[in-house]
Amino acid sequence: MLDLGVSLVLPQTSVTAHAPGWTLYRNLYMSNGTLFIVTSHPEDSEFPEIRMMTSTGLPAFNTPENIALREPTALDMDFLSPEQAKRRWGGDPQNGQRNRIWTIEGNTLLFNDPPQFLNHYYHFVAELFFGTWAFLYGAFVSGAMSPSPSSISAAFQEPSFNLYSETAFQPPPLTRAIFIHASSDAWRDVPGFNAYFLRAAFPSLALETSGDWDDRVTATSVAPGSGHVTKGRAWHFPVAMLVDRSAAHRGDACGSRTQRTAAEAWELMIGKGSLDLVGIWWGSVRGAVLRFAGVDAKDMRDVAQETSGQVGDLPLSLPIPEKVLIVYITRQGVRRHLIEDDHLALVAALEEMVDRKESEGVEWELNVVQAETLTKDEQIKLAGRATILLGVHGNGLTHLVFMQPTRTSAVVEIFFPGGFSQDYEWTTRALGMRHFSVWNDTYFTHPNEPEVAYPDGFQGSSIPVHGPTVAKLIKDQLEGIL
Ligand SMILES: *[C@@H]1O[C@H](CO)[C@@H](O)[C@H](O)[C@H]1NC(C)=O
Ligand SMILES: *[C@@H]1O[C@H](CO)[C@@H](O)[C@H](O)[C@H]1NC(C)=O
Repeated sequence: MLDLGVSLVLPQTSVTAHAPGWTLYRNLYMSNGTLFIVTSHPEDSEFPEIRMMTSTGLPAFNTPENIALREPTALDMDFLSPEQAKRRWGGDPQNGQRNRIWTIEGNTLLFNDPPQFLNHYYHFVAELFFGTWAFLYGAFVSGAMSPSPSSISAAFQEPSFNLYSETAFQPPPLTRAIFIHASSDAWRDVPGFNAYFLRAAFPSLALETSGDWDDRVTATSVAPGSGHVTKGRAWHFPVAMLVDRSAAHRGDACGSRTQRTAAEAWELMIGKGSLDLVGIWWGSVRGAVLRFAGVDAKDMRDVAQETSGQVGDLPLSLPIPEKVLIVYITRQGVRRHLIEDDHLALVAALEEMVDRKESEGVEWELNVVQAETLTKDEQIKLAGRATILLGVHGNGLTHLVFMQPTRTSAVVEIFFPGGFSQDYEWTTRALGMRHFSVWNDTYFTHPNEPEVAYPDGFQGSSIPVHGPTVAKLIKDQLEGIL
């Protein structure tokens, strides 16, 4: 156990990996609600600008006033020299007077986002945890945490941070996540997928929420008028990853190009060559969730093994699917949906396509599902077997992160004509699969995506679609023509 109470020297903070909004530290401190970087060389280029790491964590609105209010101050994060830190929290350990610093052992994810984006399946899984995993996986593969796996465990003396064998690159097991601004209900989405995902993917992860953070803040602050107690305490995080949505939006990948916070983490690690382009890095999270949902062992694929480690970065290195499953998630039961006749014609066109294939002796399975009528396990199991995931723009498409990519895997997303958003498009491509945006009887795919737009009708219940166009698109994609 680390006990900085008796330590003569305080370990200084270092940043081991950083992208806007995503920062991995060793030896980060917190006192009275402020995160502290303790260093004797604050001007060192090792430290990114504070505004690229954190914010005030307030809910985000797109107004100049609100943008200004989210700029961090010295109350959010600050630098301290080791001498200043000692003056605030230090004792005299040689003479039996402890430093007032307590270590929070293991590793900690510090999520600084407002609940506004947490209680939404897409943002929680496909942004927050997708980015977290890309970042951690990339940091560990590239050895950003240390020159060699064995020296890190030796340096840390922490079982929770021993890396696995040299071959299996994995982030270490996650110890704890703290939702600084969200109460224990505020990170949960209504359908319950956030909790399902979290417990399935990370069964041992301990959670703290805003009340727990407040406890930690109070425990370190100086009580007003407390007479003889004039000094505060501090918490010490040996390893912490700070995630901040507003800071991510200050970066180019998220702020200017994709509006996806995870894009900052993913692009940094892709740039370092630390992530593959076909989602092998995400495979352990996906696999954990699929096993939890009860996917049969025979339906579990190990892409890393199938490509014999030849990640190659090429979706072409992926295998052809053994069985084709087309899953159409209909939204006819909820607010934003297709014109009913168009929905029926779409189903008819898909059925006809599958029948025609059958007459050619090829078996393609079609599943038309209304997600709300299925259990969570059933939904995840379907996604895990899907070759094509089809649906109107909406949260149900978040399940795409559980698809097991093959050479012909694709997401087909129907938008109100003229409308486009990058949520599922970016995520699909980050996993090495193709994405098609359908506008009635035309479609687009990377690199010819339209501009992001939310025209009138985008959220409505009269979205048109030309079924035969979609059926032909899917057939061509599955046959490898596109
Ligand atoms: C503790 O935090 C509060 C609120 O952020 C701030 O007003 C106060 O000045 C801080 N106290 C110290 C000793 O830094
Ligand atoms: C959708 O496409 C079909 C086929 O081209 C066309 O007949 C129909 O008018 C289109 N609908 C809309 C609303 O543009």
